[in-house]
Amino acid sequence: MKNLNQIESEILNKIENAKNRNTYDIIKIEIFGKKGIITELFKKIGSLSQNERKEYASKLNSLKAKLTEILEQKLIDFDQSEINEKLKNEKIDITLSGRTYFAGKIHPVSQVIDEATSIFSEIGFSVEEGPDVENEYYNFSALNTPEDHPAKDMHDTFYLEHSKDLLLRTHTSPVQIRTMLKSKPPFKIIAPGRTYRHDSDQTHSPMFHQLEGLHIDKNVNMGHLKGCLYYFVKKFFEVEKVKIRFRPSHFPFTEPSAEVDIGYKIQDGKIKIGEGDKWLEILGCGMVHPNVLKNAKVNSKQYQGYAFGVGIDRLAMLKYGINDLRAFFESDIRWLEFYGFDPLDVPTNYRGLSR
Ligand code: DAH
Repeated sequence: MKNLNQIESEILNKIENAKNRNTYDIIKIEIFGKKGIITELFKKIGSLSQNERKEYASKLNSLKAKLTEILEQKLIDFDQSEINEKLKNEKIDITLSGRTYFAGKIHPVSQVIDEATSIFSEIGFSVEEGPDVENEYYNFSALNTPEDHPAKDMHDTFYLEHSKDLLLRTHTSPVQIRTMLKSKPPFKIIAPGRTYRHDSDQTHSPMFHQLEGLHIDKNVNMGHLKGCLYYFVKKFFEVEKVKIRFRPSHFPFTEPSAEVDIGYKIQDGKIKIGEGDKWLEILGCGMVHPNVLKNAKVNSKQYQGYAFGVGIDRLAMLKYGINDLRAFFESDIRWLEFYGFDPLDVPTNYRGLSR
């Protein structure tokens, strides 16, 4: 019988010669397979004398452990050299220009709604919504609008065909009624959304957007209304100081009512909000009329508050220097590419390369 050292060096030789996985597998079977060299050596243990057996078995076991370890290492080496081979051959050509894509844009109206919502939410307003198709009661009557009010006229309001009752809401104010009817005071909500009127020119479109505000509680007064609007206007136009003017006005659903103007001036052909001696109307507001509270099942002896309605499109035009409202709704992709906002703030030089 060959001695174990001799066998070991023969086997190590074999393993050394395994240059790829196939020969490796064959050699592994030759060593450890059913009839493999080591397997056969183990079978011989039985035929040895008691004395020889112990020493032989222990030598054989350590040889087996050594070979197993060497074979495992060999496998790891194969993997590593495969990776190295790949790295050597598969070069990435970084001079090839990247795949271009066209990123969509956020419409200025959506952008302004998002901005306004986040500003009002900082001071405790939550968001409510109402339907575009509204009934006459919520849109007018519950809001204390008299039967002969001009807004009810067919010339101003889109009534649904074959219906005396259904119309496209002319303002977001009906959301006040819906909100108050569905829960209990206090209320502190805003309601952005689409509104519709029979109107079309450079600053009017048959569909436009408003944002309604409503704050009802036990001690809410006009000072709170002013504070809230100041806060909003400063934050929205990103100015430290702003001139605001409350002009007495009339709305059926508020008493007293006011229209709010902000100061501005034109400098180098651009509008500057908050300075100057020109005035621009941005919203209507007032203290909610007791009749409105009554219609909305709120006890006007205990509760009072303010409401306001601001034109979203108007805000977008002012803040982002867009001068024709009609373009907002023409779905011209070039307009949106120019005036729209990046959803992920993609750097400008990556924009729209594939078109
Ligand atoms: N709904 C009014 C409009 O469309 C705007 C408005 C004025 C809303 C006063 C209000 C308000 O909530 O209190 O012209």
